[in-house]
Amino acid sequence: MPATTSIPAHVKSQRLRAWVNDIATLCKPDQIHWCDGSQAEYDALCDQLVKSGTFKRLNPEKRPGSFLAFSDPSDVARVEDRTYICSLNKEDAGPTNNWMDPREMKATLQPLFDGSMRGRTMYVIPFCMGPIGSPISYIGYEITDSPYVVVNMKLMTRMGRAVDDALGESDVFVPCVHTVGAPLAPGQKDVAWPCNPTVKYIVHFPEERSIWSYGSGYGGNALLGKKCLALRIASVLGRDEGWMAEHMLILGVEDPKGKKTFVAAAFPSACGKTNFAMLIPPKEMEGWKVTTIGDDIAWLKPGADGRLYAINPEAGYFGVAPGTNYTSNPNCMDTIRANTIFTNVALTDDGDVWWEGMDGPPPAHAIDWQGNDWTPDCGRKAAHPNSRFTVPAGQNPAVDKEWENPAGVPISAIVFGGRRSTVVPLVYQPVNWAFGVYAGATMGSEMTAAAFGNIGEVRRDPMAMLPFAGYHMASYFNHWLSMGRKVSQPPRIFCVNWFRKDKDGKFLWPGYGENMRVLKWIVERAAGTARAIEGPLGYVPTYDDIDWRGLSFSREQFHQLMSVDRDVWQKEVLGHEELFIKLFDRLPKEFIAMRQLLLSNLWRSP
Ligand code: GTP
Ligand code: SPV
Ligand code: MN
Repeated sequence: MPATTSIPAHVKSQRLRAWVNDIATLCKPDQIHWCDGSQAEYDALCDQLVKSGTFKRLNPEKRPGSFLAFSDPSDVARVEDRTYICSLNKEDAGPTNNWMDPREMKATLQPLFDGSMRGRTMYVIPFCMGPIGSPISYIGYEITDSPYVVVNMKLMTRMGRAVDDALGESDVFVPCVHTVGAPLAPGQKDVAWPCNPTVKYIVHFPEERSIWSYGSGYGGNALLGKKCLALRIASVLGRDEGWMAEHMLILGVEDPKGKKTFVAAAFPSACGKTNFAMLIPPKEMEGWKVTTIGDDIAWLKPGADGRLYAINPEAGYFGVAPGTNYTSNPNCMDTIRANTIFTNVALTDDGDVWWEGMDGPPPAHAIDWQGNDWTPDCGRKAAHPNSRFTVPAGQNPAVDKEWENPAGVPISAIVFGGRRSTVVPLVYQPVNWAFGVYAGATMGSEMTAAAFGNIGEVRRDPMAMLPFAGYHMASYFNHWLSMGRKVSQPPRIFCVNWFRKDKDGKFLWPGYGENMRVLKWIVERAAGTARAIEGPLGYVPTYDDIDWRGLSFSREQFHQLMSVDRDVWQKEVLGHEELFIKLFDRLPKEFIAMRQLLLSNLWRSP
């Protein structure tokens, strides 16, 4: 069909008009819907998703304005092995990314996208990462044949007509094309979760700044503003323009005197960002308060005053459901009380949702994420371990009043954290920016259900960006080092591990709200007021430097949690070496020197 007749007259960008026309010609949808981002449009699409069977409307008395989707069992997480960085030169993608020559990739994608939207509606989603009109925001357009993607993008981004107006005649936007890869023949009945169970491609062209996604309807593979634009493409923009796109939460900490400090923290997928961003301090730590700016992505830019300023480019949270409850994360439970889209959690008999680790006893019966009857003794999980909620950030009772400030918030501390059941202590502070960058770059973490892979296996996940850096990982390290030189007051860097276990596999640290005790030390270290002693990895608190009001935690427990076994750490450094060998051609020369210093700190004469 001629797309030109479906492009609204108010759309003035010639590049945008031509591109939409080209994609429509290629994908051959039945019709085109240009999204205006209105509530009426959202409601109509949700109704349509209920009719088509993708959504179940939840009980309005239990969970007003909320829906549940079950995905295809093959489409539950990001597909890192199907994710490509197609830079012109293979060397620029680096050894940690999948690469294909851009021409070859386009030749591969062309026949897949040809006719891929037959029998479907093609939606054009204008979206903005960051507040509309802000100089640090970035506009994208996602073309998709999935109404599920449209409604999720409405919650996760600033979306709709205001973005068309902000773009005006400009041709600066990131074109993003997405199809579920399941065209319908005339008369063919659709399934509840269309996708292509066998063929998937998540492709980035960093020089062209464009994104093509085929075959998946799942979050990070399909909501292209999130990991694809705001991290993979934005990391390349940041490298070229002198800023940083990071897999980080941003939070504000207010002390009892009312002094506010902003902290950013990079933890790998499903390692605690959303929980940390919404932390409620123990009540005995009176006067301390935490507010949320963002829970997954931060863009950090140098300010005129020599500090790094961070914005959250997103407008919603796409968070992990299992483990969320009124004890671990009450703010989150309140956030998702209404107007929430749930994916792959269980449906209770009274039309509400349930997942492993929710408050109270499990329901006697539920429908599990695969649509089967479920009972507590059936031996299967009711919710998929990577089941998620999508919710507008404004619903968070702890949202920071500055969360949409286009100038961002000044960051005083950056925290790196992984999921390590052994080896890594609760907290330490590398001695300066360069050692902090080294610590972030060599961070290891046990893999989680957020991506397909060997769950539990330790892998190096530099700055929690292994799956998200849009260029050579070692060039990315150099960019980090250069950013520290660019600002006169770089944030202090810290490393944490909430996940250390004892011999019986029990967590040594209570975590969640109790993490405030560590956060307090971090904030006070950043201000230069807290005490520390020198350990082999950096500065560490002694037992007496931590606020223990309201928690009984013995000196022995603390020492176990903080212990650094020199023999084990020498092996850990061999893990650093493995990463360095991989990245050898572009590795910062500083890293070799820092590894030697680390070894000498760990060494004791036999
Ligand atoms: P992504 O959205 O995938 O980027 O994940 P995230 O980093 O935001 O992780 P999230 O906060 O959703 O936590 C993931 C899982 O870790 C959940 O099951 C949490 O219950 C659990 N978790 C979070 N914080 C803690 C903690 O302090 N201690 C322990 N033991 N578990 C935690
Ligand atoms: C992650 O995996 O880090 C997520 C979820 O935040 S996704 O959007 O699927 O990437
Ligand atoms: Mn994430």
